[in-house]
Amino acid sequence: MCGIVGVLSNQSAVPIIFEALRRLEYRGYDSAGIATLVNGSIERRRASGKLDNLGEILKKNALSGTVGIGHTRWATHGAPTENNAHPHATERVAIVHNGIIENHEALRKELEEAGQIFKSDTDSETIALLVDLYLKQGKSPKDAAHTALNRLEGAFAIAMLFANEENLMIGARHGAPLIVGFGESEMFLGSDSLALAPLTRRIAYMPDGSWVVLTRKGADFYDLEGRSIDCPIQITALMAGAIGKDGYRHYMEKELNEHPVVIGQTLRRFVNPSTHQIELPEIDFTSISRATVTACGSAYYAGMIGRYWLEEYARLPVDIDIASELRYRNPPLDKNGIGLLISQSGETADTLGALRLLKNAGQHIISVLNCEHSTMARESDTVLGTDAGVEIAVATTKAFSAQLTVLACLTLVAGVKRGNLTNETADACLSALLDVPSRVAEALQLQPAIQEMAKIVAEAQTVIYLGRGILFPVAMEGALKLKEISYIHADAYAAGEMKHGPIALIDPTVPIISVVPLGYLFDKTVSNLQEAKARGGRLLVFTDEKGAKTLKGIAEQVVVLPDVHPFVSPILYTVPVQMLAYEAALIKGTDVDQPRNLAKSVTVE
Ligand code: G6P
Repeated sequence: MCGIVGVLSNQSAVPIIFEALRRLEYRGYDSAGIATLVNGSIERRRASGKLDNLGEILKKNALSGTVGIGHTRWATHGAPTENNAHPHATERVAIVHNGIIENHEALRKELEEAGQIFKSDTDSETIALLVDLYLKQGKSPKDAAHTALNRLEGAFAIAMLFANEENLMIGARHGAPLIVGFGESEMFLGSDSLALAPLTRRIAYMPDGSWVVLTRKGADFYDLEGRSIDCPIQITALMAGAIGKDGYRHYMEKELNEHPVVIGQTLRRFVNPSTHQIELPEIDFTSISRATVTACGSAYYAGMIGRYWLEEYARLPVDIDIASELRYRNPPLDKNGIGLLISQSGETADTLGALRLLKNAGQHIISVLNCEHSTMARESDTVLGTDAGVEIAVATTKAFSAQLTVLACLTLVAGVKRGNLTNETADACLSALLDVPSRVAEALQLQPAIQEMAKIVAEAQTVIYLGRGILFPVAMEGALKLKEISYIHADAYAAGEMKHGPIALIDPTVPIISVVPLGYLFDKTVSNLQEAKARGGRLLVFTDEKGAKTLKGIAEQVVVLPDVHPFVSPILYTVPVQMLAYEAALIKGTDVDQPRNLAKSVTVE
């Protein structure tokens, strides 16, 4: 959702900014741009499309300067053209922005009346023209920036560069992330620590509603009232080496193959190896009356699986809703309720909005997060971290299974503490969980069979995914992944619901992918598959050894996964459905890591 970089250096700024933008491209790739100061004047280069287009422009028309700002855009207001690309600039100031300025129309009118001339259709240009107006009125850059920031409504992370100010940069954040990096006589701004990973490990995470004045010597932080605030420097553990492809064709392929390691790492965080006990931060599960679970995208499906687990194993009543709905729904909430938020980035605007709603309603906030320095982490009462490492492919894979791993641990602890799970059952489930990395490693070996399945899927216009119970959200994850990266229309249905409508879609061109190990409502799901087959649907199934005995006579293709305890089957079956989407996208030749129109971290509503 737009990536921002700022560099105050003594060396040429453009290569540093360009490489940092490369690491931020997962946040948006509709257009990109860089502005620097050349002999005190603001110069910029911008290009529509991916960062490589900007690279081509810079090769033909290089940009010098040791201070500069850069941006990679996910368009909200205004088409992804060069004209709408950031930085937006006047002769006095250049800005890059991530977020949405909600009062941009009123500001645009006011600025136009004051004689300011807009050159783009974006909401972001209002920031540049507002600061410019205050500069023209004689304010210092710092005062102009501060006055302008207080006029903005909505969400923003901003970096500003001023003409003739070679040793100054101003950053601000309100509802969108921004961090400050401290180098040796160099300073940086970035949307996340990944952007700055090779540049510095000394990072300050700006609090929401703050702004910062950078010089090469350091940073002064302020709140929006202009009062000086502290913002401690932390040492990030993120290493530059974590962001290569390691010989894989795509980040998504690399990240798919990291499933076993990531699940293992996440388990190591919570399971004490000597006692074989799950250790979580103190949560009084006995007094909790209800959990309200919310998230967006794949994280929402992880939450759905969490609901099945918590209801069945911990007998905890659970409500679940998509965050963009929950935040405006005003649900009645119990006094002793918890809000359970799930997010890879910890920055998703809708999930953050829902978090605040739940917090204001007195819920204890537990967040399952991969980015533990994120805004959600700071605003939560309890953070349960997933150890998925950096995830770069826009479509999530390993972070999803890490979220499931944490939710499984949470379920077992809640189940025992609430007296609904015997120690023996909890131990059996935990043993199964500890076994998951090995079973997932085996599932990854099924790639050749999944490639065969992908050949059928890649030819389809529409694909239907079916699952029941706790495997229904896995079917949903499969359908979303396929849509996201191969652009094939796919939808998931609870297998029993198919006959109430979706069955009308079925004909011999429609592959029906089902996730159906023996056990949970197996016979009923098989009956639903028979109904689809009778209408000419092509059945492609993921099952286990025992299920395969029945399904091999019915389905066109059967991929047989290792046998596992039913408790962990959602984690195991996630891997092949994600891999199927990847293989289908390869056949379609789409941009797997950066699919069209998407962004990894969606910091606007
Ligand atoms: C975006 C991504 C999805 C992701 C969702 C939630 O839409 O494209 O892959 O699941 O955001 O992201 P979060 O960071 O909150 O998990």
